[in-house]
This record gives sequence, C-alpha cells and structure tokens, in this order.
Amino acid sequence: MVDKKTVEAFITSFGTKPDSLIQVPGRVNLIGEHTDYNGLPVLPISIPFTVKAAAAPRSDRAVHIMNSDTAYVSTSFELSDSIPHSQEGNWANYIKAAAQAVVTSAGNNLNGMNTLFHGSIPLSAGLSSSSALVVASALSLLASNKKPIDFKELAELLAVGEHYVGTQGGGMDQAICLLGKKDHAVKIDFFPLRLSYIPFPQDFSIVVAHSLVRAAKTENALLLYNRRPAECRLATAIINAVHTIDPPIQRLGDLMAIPGYQSVLDTAERFVGETFTQNAYSLQKISDITGETTEAVTDKYLMTRSGVPMPVPPEGFLIRQRALHVFSEANRVEKSCKALRDNDVKTFGSFMNESHESCDKQYGLSTPELNELVSIMRNLGAVGARLTGAGFGGCAIALVRDDKVEKVIDSIRETYYNGYIAQHRPGLLKDFTIDEILFAVKPAAGATVSTL
Ligand code: GLA
Repeated sequence: MVDKKTVEAFITSFGTKPDSLIQVPGRVNLIGEHTDYNGLPVLPISIPFTVKAAAAPRSDRAVHIMNSDTAYVSTSFELSDSIPHSQEGNWANYIKAAAQAVVTSAGNNLNGMNTLFHGSIPLSAGLSSSSALVVASALSLLASNKKPIDFKELAELLAVGEHYVGTQGGGMDQAICLLGKKDHAVKIDFFPLRLSYIPFPQDFSIVVAHSLVRAAKTENALLLYNRRPAECRLATAIINAVHTIDPPIQRLGDLMAIPGYQSVLDTAERFVGETFTQNAYSLQKISDITGETTEAVTDKYLMTRSGVPMPVPPEGFLIRQRALHVFSEANRVEKSCKALRDNDVKTFGSFMNESHESCDKQYGLSTPELNELVSIMRNLGAVGARLTGAGFGGCAIALVRDDKVEKVIDSIRETYYNGYIAQHRPGLLKDFTIDEILFAVKPAAGATVSTL
C-alpha cells in the first residue's frame, strides 16, 4: 500500500524517491501490565494509528532523519559499533537505538539511509509511539540494506535494543507493533517470544481516553518506570534466598518452571504473603536476606544505563506489593484469554477492572486522573475499564459495546474533560485537541514493509 503523502514528503525533503515505505502501529494493552519483563504474558492489540517511514539507502554510512512534524529537528549520525547518544529526550535516540541493535546483529557493514518519519500515534499517552518509532527505524534500515526480515527475531532484538534510550522495559511493545493482527488480541509470552491470536469480540470496541497527564518515558516517569523492573529483580533475589532455589531463577516468571512452584499464579496471595513478610524493604534488610553486601545489591539490581544507581525510595521498596501484582496479573491474563476464547465478554471485563485495582494499589501505576476516568467509564456502562501501558499518566481504556460507543465518547467528553479536568486541572486542556485524546478502536494489523 503506497502512502502518497509520505512519499511526496520524502521527495520534498531529500530530492529523490524512497525505496521502501514502512508502517508500524501503536498498541493498547488490554491486560497484563508490567508482566512482560518478568517473563509473564500480556494481551495487547495493535491500533490504527501509526508511525510511517519512507526510506532510501545511501552509499555511505550516514543515517539522515527528518520528521513531517518540524518540532522534531532533522539530524544525522553515522552507523558504527558504538553509536554515541544524543542528549536525553532527543527523538534521534530512538532511531539510534534501532540502528545500534541492527548493526550489532546484522554486522557493521550496513549502508546508511535517508528516512522521513510521519507519526499519528498520540504522544506521551502510553500507546507505544516510542517503540513504534524504534521498530519503524529498524525496518527502514533493514529494508534499505535489502536484508531479510524476520518479525519475531526483530521483536526480540529490539526489546533489548530499546534499552539504549535508558528504559528497562520488556518486549510487549515491539512484539505487538510488529506482529499485531486485525480483529485479534494477541497473547504474548516471552523468553522465548511466543504469540497466539485470539479473536476480539465482534460487537465491541475499545474506547481510549487520555487522562491528559503525560506519560513520557523521559523525565521523572523514566525513574518511576525503571524502579518497577528493579523492584521485581529484588523480589526475584529474595525468592531465591528464602526458598533456596538452585540454580537461582533470573526473573519472577521463571518460578513457574520450578517443580513445586507451578501453581504460584493460582495461589499468588498465599505465596507472596509467606515469602515477603515485610511491608517495605530497606537496602539493609534485602542484603541481610540475600547474603550480599548492600553495595552488591545496588550494583546487581539497581543500576541505570548511565551507571548511576536508582535512589532508594524513602518509604523503602514495596516488594511484596509488586510481586503480588505481577503474579496475580499474570493469572488474570491467563483467565482473560480463556474468557475471550469463550466469548465471555463480561468475565473479561471484570478482569480488566481487577487489573486496574491491582495496577493502582499494588503497583502504584495510577493517578487521581486515571482513577476518575476509569470510574467514569464504568459508570457509563463499560464492560471493563483500566489504565493501559506503563502508567503514571497516559490513557485509560474501556471495553464498550459498539452500539454504545458514541454515547460513551460524548459522555466522557462532558464528564471528564469539560467537567473534572476543567474544574481540577484546566491547564492540561490547552495542549490537546479532543480527537487525538478520545477515540474508539478495534484491533488493527501489525507492521508492513512495502518496496516501491
Ligand atoms: C511499557 C514498556 C512495556 C511494558 C509496559 C507495561 O510500555 O515498554 O515493556 O512493561 O510499559 O506493561
């Protein structure tokens, strides 16, 4: 499918025709939040908002990037074994993350490219605009070099490759952006990556509404986000010590493969209660349990990309609560998949609701605005409603019967934006137009690469 506008914009920018056109969707996660980096399943859909890239190879090793939105400054860099970072927050880092991963895996003899990006995924909304940009960049570079592309291998490569920008995320976003399917939710398991496609209920849509609190994974939210995988690493270390697991497991999800622990997801509350007896853990307490020095605990579990350790939160690490969320959420994903397969929409919706409560109370991902939005959605008759994505802001989603969608959207506009936000946080309204923050979607197709 040729996208005339993106091609024309490329020609205007670079003075030549592009060779390939890439299209990568954003995503909404239906359920399974912060489970992916623990090796536990998620259930997202791709959405019909995309990052498009038009690309052409260069004869040298330079990568020139432009964006149809001129707020993103054009720039260039050289492909190499070690691509230097741009300043934190600069969009070039996402393209560099992809380029670095591709060079590391495909070899350091690739040609560069000229690429023009055009994005329609709402930004800082938790809809995976960043991973879609990383994926689009990698596909552009591979297509420009006429390399064969295996979407599954690429998803695994880029899950780690995106850590270049400083996030310590899992592999959900890259996998669903690449491998989503129209009219289907995708159950994704990790380490190794496995996907199964489940038909999405025919007469239902997902209403997406931005809380207007930005969920940019730069700034403070990056620290908040990265602390969660760190807390899960600490939880894993404590489980290894308390249950003398040998050889030690690497991540929480590995526990399910250990004889005697297969039922942990079903008995999450009891297992977590018996294993984590503290309400909050100090560094010293963790070191007492694992038998490592506090310096070793810091080095092993709390490091950031820049080599500066994450600060210890003043209230201590809420490890029991984090572990309870992760195990119970994974259990909800399994049960939600069954509910979807049985076309039992009501049960599926109730798991979405439970997931929100757990994301809020146990994992600290919600905000007053997201809680308000979710409760409005439920009052309007949503079958289920929850925050989606990394949290700390961004969007809430609601599962809504198609015949109610219009009314629900109108009522959210009135009750949340013109009501709650106008009253409590009026300043937030000025940065957005309603259409980009409130809409309904059905599952869309995954990424495409067209040769022109
Ligand atoms: C972000 C990360 C994902 C995942 C979600 C939370 O989107 O990139 O890997 O951890 O947050 O479910």
